[in-house]
Amino acid sequence: MSYRVAVLVSGSGSNLQALIDDAPGGGYEIALVLSDRADAYGLQRALHHGIACVHLPLRRHDRTAWEQRLTQVCAAFAPDLVVLAGFMRVLSAEFLQAFPGRVINQHPALLPADGGDMVTTRTGHTIPALRGAHVVADALRLGLPVSGCTVHRVTLVVDDGPLLASAEVVVLPGDDVASLHERIKTEERRLIVEVVRRLAREAR
Ligand code: GRF
Repeated sequence: MSYRVAVLVSGSGSNLQALIDDAPGGGYEIALVLSDRADAYGLQRALHHGIACVHLPLRRHDRTAWEQRLTQVCAAFAPDLVVLAGFMRVLSAEFLQAFPGRVINQHPALLPADGGDMVTTRTGHTIPALRGAHVVADALRLGLPVSGCTVHRVTLVVDDGPLLASAEVVVLPGDDVASLHERIKTEERRLIVEVVRRLAREAR
């Protein structure tokens, strides 16, 4: 039985693409791509590769119904793992309970293993743990010498949860959000493939 992965995206889906490319040799299959946004390029990537894809728009005042539909749609594809790959929505306890311990997230900054507010890097810097939707800009604004990315299991606490992998990225003089984020995303694509392969292997 193959290890089934659902990928939730809100944007370009370059991490999704890394998974699509890796799946045939990686011991898993992408069973579903779902987006809250019609214009998420990740949906086009799924269509191009013949992967089931669903657009589930979130309308105002409809949050509970949307969460229920999201849970039902994902459950219908029986995923062993749900990957939040640039999915810009915070998920409810109901969703997480439907896939206990099986939802993972990518975060474009370093997070500490202890859920605290500081991270010590391998290069010996102690930097603040950046959380939220603008962490690449935050790293630049704070003048951090190093940032990075993390893959972690999702819990009810946003941008927290047991770490699965992380990588550090040096901030270069002259970096702007786009240049730093692109180098971070290069590492994210490497990490997400590594983590999903590992989880698929452990499930065998
Ligand atoms: C990644 O940096 C991820 O950490 C963040 O959104 C970005 C998604 O990039 N949450 P892409 O859509 O996979 O290219």
